[in-house]
Amino acid sequence: MPLQLTRPELMCSENFIDGQWRAAVAGARYDVSDPASGAVFASVPDSGAADAADAANAAAAAFGPWRDRSARERAQLIKRWHALILANADDLARLISREQGKPLAEARGEVLYGASYVEWFAEEAVRTYGDMIPEPVRGKKLMVVKEPVGVVAAITPWNFPLAMIARKIAPALAAGCTVVAKPAEDTPLTALALVRLADDAGIPAGVINLVTASRAQTPQVVGAWLADARVRKITFTGSTAVGKSLARDSAATLKKLSLELGGNAPFIVFDDADLDAAVDGLMVSKFRNGGQTCVSPNRVYVQRAVYDAFAAKLVARVAALKVGPASDPASQIGPMINRRALDKIVEHIADALDRGGALLTGGERLHPAGAAGDTFFAPTIVGNAHHAMQLAHEETFGPVVALFPFDDEAQVIALANDTPFGLAAYFYARDIARVWRVADRLETGIVGINEGALAAEVAPFGGVKESGYGREGSRYGLDDYMHTKYLCMGGLT
Ligand code: SIN
Repeated sequence: MPLQLTRPELMCSENFIDGQWRAAVAGARYDVSDPASGAVFASVPDSGAADAADAANAAAAAFGPWRDRSARERAQLIKRWHALILANADDLARLISREQGKPLAEARGEVLYGASYVEWFAEEAVRTYGDMIPEPVRGKKLMVVKEPVGVVAAITPWNFPLAMIARKIAPALAAGCTVVAKPAEDTPLTALALVRLADDAGIPAGVINLVTASRAQTPQVVGAWLADARVRKITFTGSTAVGKSLARDSAATLKKLSLELGGNAPFIVFDDADLDAAVDGLMVSKFRNGGQTCVSPNRVYVQRAVYDAFAAKLVARVAALKVGPASDPASQIGPMINRRALDKIVEHIADALDRGGALLTGGERLHPAGAAGDTFFAPTIVGNAHHAMQLAHEETFGPVVALFPFDDEAQVIALANDTPFGLAAYFYARDIARVWRVADRLETGIVGINEGALAAEVAPFGGVKESGYGREGSRYGLDDYMHTKYLCMGGLT
């Protein structure tokens, strides 16, 4: 089915560099396909080092004039961008659904979610306050000012094609930085449409530059930015393996880094929890985007006394989920992004069942009506999970719940923290002393306490350990795009 947009010009198919739509220097292109059917519906430039260099040149040239605008002026332009994102929310949602596969209502939710970061950072642009420090000796004034870091390279994932790039570009612009960006290979079209709207909003040429590239070409593009001393910061959301290589390869020019990497979130249900609330929280956190979310619970620990009751309630809810293509308004779970993603799910479930897991629902590939592809998987629950299973140590990134029975608080905290990752954790309990003990001991950047929906533009999003560093959203998210400069004025006696 051709993609129908109210504004067809939002379907952009070239790089955006220095305010112009340009083909890749080498003329190469790659195809973009619908994950629900595998059908190719667009193509975009397969860029290389020369395109990345052009983008960096434009961003470097635009940096001084953008930084020198007043904060109010920058805020007004970002606000105008926000207004255009909202005005075109339906088209953006259609693009997200088509290239990423999430159901249309969820895609619309993503547009509003991403837009909330743009609005927040437009408002924060005028609040990048410094400090006066009381002088330690007479005759001096000590001041702290915040300055934009410079050109920022934003490298974004496929699971939230709009929200992730919005929450990187908006704070960069608010701080006074300019941007070179590369969206994920699978989902370039939403990012291109977003950049068109930024252009429509009057954000000057060179302030945002975006190049697209296939997986094979991505190292050329990113490598050019890593080697470029003018690129002062990399902000990346994606795998821990790639995050580590960015940290290594940016060392030569000591770039500032924000890395939002893999998770392996524990979700703990204690025996004093409100079980219905815990099931609700798990449904929200686990099945958002079909489980393809880095804060998605990967290990669900349930205290033995409530294990059977919790499992029964959960099975009833999960078995009722409707799987189908984004084009079906009844769909709650869309396709996985590609065959590789599906193969990993199948592998994790097979390993869990081999090691004594019990299949409580799901466990199979699906072929829903109206979906020609083979990227659909039934929402699945595996019971009796334990830490010798692969799914205890790797993110499954799909609609699979693994239930791990546990006996006491000390044991479950040790299990929850038994991972190199530390992005998000969730727990349900009512004993207030336990709530504080557990919240204090979980080794993650984000903790949901009796709550499954955590992310918001006003709150800091990010991890600890091998889930990365830096924060997105909130006032902390703006700090990541600025330097702290100390000014010391003497001779004042
Ligand atoms: C992610 O999966 O990387 C981000 C999810 C979110 O913003 O909640």
